[in-house]
Amino acid sequence: MTNLDPQPALVPVRSLRGRSFLSTSDLTSAELYQLIDLTIAGKSAGRHSLGHPLAGRGVGLVFFNPSLRTRASMVMAVAELGGQPVPLDIGAGTWDLEHEVGVVMNGSKSEHVREAVPVLSQYVDAIGVRCFPALKSLKDDRQEPVLSAFAEYAQVPVINLESATAHPCQALADMVTIREQLGGFAGRKVSLVWANHPKVLPHAVPSSFAMAALQCGLDLTIAAPPEYLPDANWQEQLESAARVAGGSLRMTSHLRDAYEGAQVIYAKSWASTRHYGDLETDLRVRRHYGNWQVTSELMNQTNDGVFMHCLPVRRNVVVADEVLDGPRSIVVQQAANRLAAQKALLASIFC
Ligand code: CP
Repeated sequence: MTNLDPQPALVPVRSLRGRSFLSTSDLTSAELYQLIDLTIAGKSAGRHSLGHPLAGRGVGLVFFNPSLRTRASMVMAVAELGGQPVPLDIGAGTWDLEHEVGVVMNGSKSEHVREAVPVLSQYVDAIGVRCFPALKSLKDDRQEPVLSAFAEYAQVPVINLESATAHPCQALADMVTIREQLGGFAGRKVSLVWANHPKVLPHAVPSSFAMAALQCGLDLTIAAPPEYLPDANWQEQLESAARVAGGSLRMTSHLRDAYEGAQVIYAKSWASTRHYGDLETDLRVRRHYGNWQVTSELMNQTNDGVFMHCLPVRRNVVVADEVLDGPRSIVVQQAANRLAAQKALLASIFC
């Protein structure tokens, strides 16, 4: 940093220095609160209040899948902290990457992550990676084959930009948004509501949102048709987080229960836990749940609740236009917080 560089006005979360961020569970509740506080303080202190801790450094942004928010906000986060973002779209301008161990590479994939990730580590100081699930087996997807390979072979911190089962940067921004909106966490009622969707989607966003909400001590209701409620493994992890941070977890398949008294409705579609890997059955089952859409009539049952969604969102499938375009929708503020939250995260990793 030179004398001309803006001096950081804020203190990063020093315990995150040099660490990867693969899941919000990598952080203690105290670290998560500190990161949320830092994000909010950074927003109010101005664009350059975190200084330029990334000056002279690069961050690889590896995308196996499409993105609007994550990509744009990470590029800007790195740039605003004085660093050089290095976006790489796998298979589009880079070689297609293999991650399976022991595979005979005589197909379309030209390079193995076992070389690619250590090589990338020679050029950049952290690597972000987006790698969606195969959606064939819940057990396999929970092993996080691609993210784990990056974590294993990288020689620099790895940041999860949405993996098979987690989207911690999104969850961090979501918690920032809820803190801004409700002024705190304890005693606040938040509902994660399954929504219908023409495609079978991963568990990453709902899983990270629910975990972060409980780590922050919120009273969380998860509402979904029976085939989509968290399975025993997922539920166990959430209950354990609720016990640690003092929040509560309630699960219901009664749609209206989710809205009654809620201060936040967080809508998201996800794959059936009961029929995971069987896309045909999932698509057939969800046809019965077309009424799982966020409407004004349902929002009127809430306690002056706001509408949140990670985006992109299917209008008039997941949420009615009148809700998304109405005063209860805070989806743009929520998306804006991705940039602020990722800056706080990066400033802490590089402090
Ligand atoms: N919410 C989110 O991660 O958006 P993108 O998929 O556009 O990055």
